Amino acid sequence: MKNPKILILGSNGKTGRRVVEKLHQKNISVRKGSRKAAIPFDWEDENTWEKALEGIEKVYITFQPDLAVPGALQKIKKFTALATQLEVKKLILLSGRGEKEAQLCEQVLMNSSLEWTIVRASWFNQNFSESFFLDPILSGVMALPKSNVPIPFVDADDIAEVVVAALLHSEHSNQVYELTGPEQLNFQQITTQIAEARGKSIQFVPVSMEDYIAAMRGLDLPEGYTWLIEYLFKEVVVDSNAAISNDVEKVLGRAPISFKSFAQEAASTGVWDA
Ligand SMILES: NC(=O)c1ccc[n+]([C@@H]2O[C@H](COP(=O)([O-])OP(=O)(O)OC[C@H]3O[C@@H](n4cnc5c(N)ncnc54)[C@H](OP(=O)(O)O)[C@@H]3O)[C@@H](O)[C@H]2O)c1
Repeated sequence: MKNPKILILGSNGKTGRRVVEKLHQKNISVRKGSRKAAIPFDWEDENTWEKALEGIEKVYITFQPDLAVPGALQKIKKFTALATQLEVKKLILLSGRGEKEAQLCEQVLMNSSLEWTIVRASWFNQNFSESFFLDPILSGVMALPKSNVPIPFVDADDIAEVVVAALLHSEHSNQVYELTGPEQLNFQQITTQIAEARGKSIQFVPVSMEDYIAAMRGLDLPEGYTWLIEYLFKEVVVDSNAAISNDVEKVLGRAPISFKSFAQEAASTGVWDA
C-alpha cells in the first residue's frame, strides 16, 4: 500500500474503526491514530502528535474523552496549529450536538486556514452495544434519568459514511453537518426495542438525576468520568436538542439507519446475550 495520506484518530473507536473499514473497502490506505499504533497518537502526550501528522493531508479527529471537558479547547487549538504548520490540507471534526464547549472547538477549525468539515452528531445507537449503556442492558435493568426526553439517536455507520464522503470529496469542505437518526426515541422506548430485538426482557426504572449521579459516585468511577456523564445528561438530553435533521440523507442520498434496524443487527451479533 502507498504511504497513507489520511490519519484516523480513534481508529479503534466506535466511528473511527468504521471509517477505517470503509476506506479499506475502497483500497485507500490510512494511518491509524491509536495509542497502540506503530506510530502512536495520544491526546495526553503532545510529543506523539507531530510524528502521527507527518506526511498526512487529511485527518478525522475524534477527541477523547469529549470536546466539553476542561482543556479540550486548548488541545484542539494546538493540534490545529500543528496540522497547519505541517501542511495538512483538511480536518474533519466529530462534535457533539447540544454541547456549547464543543462548538468553541468547532470554531477553531472554522477560523483556521485549512479546509474543514464539522460532523456534529446526536448520541449514537452504539452507546447501547459498544459503550456505557451496554452493562445495564446485560444486567437486565436500565435505571436512567430523563426517561421521557426524546433523543434522535444516530448510527455510527451513518456517521462513518458521512466522514468518508467528507474525506474524499471537496464538496463537503467548510460544511457543518448535524447528524441524527430518523426518529426521536426516549430511554424507555429504546429499552423496549432492545428487549424485543434480543428476545429477553429488560426492566426500565426511571430515576432522578441526583440519584443517578449518587449511584455513579458509589461505583467509585473516576470523578472526571462522572462529571462528564452528568454534563451530557444535563446539556445534551434536553427537549431543545431533539430536532431531527436531514443531513444524513443530504450527504448520503438515503435515509438514516433506524434504531430498530440497528437493534436487530446488534442482537444478531450476540452482544446483548447475558
Ligand atoms: N457517544 C456518543 O453518543 C457521541 C455523540 C456525539 C459525539 N461524540 C464524540 O465522539 C468522540 C469519540 O468518538 P468515538 O465514539 O468514535 O470514539 P470512542 O469509541 O470513544 O473511541 C475510543 C478510542 O479512543 C482511543 N483513546 C482513548 N483515550 C485516548 C487518548 N488519550 N488519546 C488517543 N486515543 C485515545 C482508544 O483507542 P486506543 O486504545 O487504540 O488508543 C479507544 O479505542 C468524543 O469526542 C465524543 O464526545 C460521542
